Amino acid sequence: MLNPFLLMAAFYLVVAIVAVLDAVLTSFTLIPWFVGLPWLRVHFITLGVLTEAAFGVLPAFVADRRDAQAPATRWDIWLLLNSGLVVLLAGMPSVNTILIIAGGTLIFIAVTLLILHLRGIGGGQQSQGSGSLKFYLMGLVYLLVGIIVGTGLWVGWSEPLRIGVPKEVHIHANSWGFASLVFAGLLVDLLPALTGRPLASRRTVSAIFWAMALGALGLVLGPWLSGNLFVTVPGLVLHIGATVALLILLARTLRGAGLYARAGAWHLSLSYLWILLPVMMAPLIILKVANVPGAEIEATAPQALIYGWMGQFLYAVAPYFAARWLLRNPQARLGGNWLSLATVNLGAALIWVSIFLPGVRGPVHAAAYIALGVSLVAAAWETGVITLTALRRAEQAAPQPV
Ligand code: HEM
Repeated sequence: MLNPFLLMAAFYLVVAIVAVLDAVLTSFTLIPWFVGLPWLRVHFITLGVLTEAAFGVLPAFVADRRDAQAPATRWDIWLLLNSGLVVLLAGMPSVNTILIIAGGTLIFIAVTLLILHLRGIGGGQQSQGSGSLKFYLMGLVYLLVGIIVGTGLWVGWSEPLRIGVPKEVHIHANSWGFASLVFAGLLVDLLPALTGRPLASRRTVSAIFWAMALGALGLVLGPWLSGNLFVTVPGLVLHIGATVALLILLARTLRGAGLYARAGAWHLSLSYLWILLPVMMAPLIILKVANVPGAEIEATAPQALIYGWMGQFLYAVAPYFAARWLLRNPQARLGGNWLSLATVNLGAALIWVSIFLPGVRGPVHAAAYIALGVSLVAAAWETGVITLTALRRAEQAAPQPV
């Protein structure tokens, strides 16, 4: 049976190319700006590729760690997630309150069911394995918070919930909560399969988990309490500390196995530059250092974060997931190539350059999206070829009608 979540992730990887093309054409003012398209562009990657891929692989990883049989596909969860996504895709551009609430609720239920499903795999016994399960569960809990705040962003829930800066709370819960923790858990599970060695000892992994989880809490509560520095700063320090530690361990393990000879290892490592950069800029914005355009950074940096960090991480792992769970190839390798590596990092860098050069922002932005578009095509091509091969194989294996 082919993993339907991963098929959807490959599908949205292709759809994301169309959204990037729109960014190029609007930046050159060749087509008019269309309200809602920036939302689609971001969420084709975050919900379409990242969330689908997470739903597809987390049960398999958890089962593996608990020496349990891979669980059967949860079609109820698949249906809830994907119907929610389609309803949101219709509701967001038209800012239709009913559709936004319906879409957000369907995805919220899907995530809740996934949490319960993961907890129940292998009879729910304590994992003796890598300790990745707590990363996945905590990441998904932050996703629930992100969904509540995100659904309320254009619906007016922020006031009754007393959220000071709701968009920032949404971004922080999803980026520093959900994506950071799930990526860290995936690294804990992936590295032994790729290199034959664990990423770190269980104690170190546990310390990274607590620093990340508590750091994310500070980073979510900070903007919730209208930028309270007493929770934001400790959160920032804990989260950066954990991320840098993770990065050092990742680089050491990948280098030890000689994996830097291929682009995939570089994709994984360099992706973290694009989450650390806005974090390093944060003190300058908070302290209002002259010449640092805080408002522009807050408006534009999320795009570099999405493509440079989440996108780039997925370029490496999506082909691996497709090869392992669609093609059933036990020797699956990290994806990405030198072209996708050069273009995704160039594109993210140009997005940052556009922030500091307001006079030429349009053309620099367009150039950034051309580079990102090329990187997406390169990444989608590889995942697409693996997916197609798997689909053809499944078709040929299916009994033919007499
Ligand atoms: C049910 C799920 C979700 C809903 C309803 C939702 C809703 C929203 C809304 C309404 C915005 C504001 C757009 C604007 O003001 O321009 C937004 C922005 C954003 N969302 Fe989500 N979102 C969801 C899931 C996610 C996930 C899973 C992630 C990341 C893993 C994410 C990351 C972001 C980011 C980074 C932005 C800022 C984009 C920018 O400013 O360029 N969202 N979201």
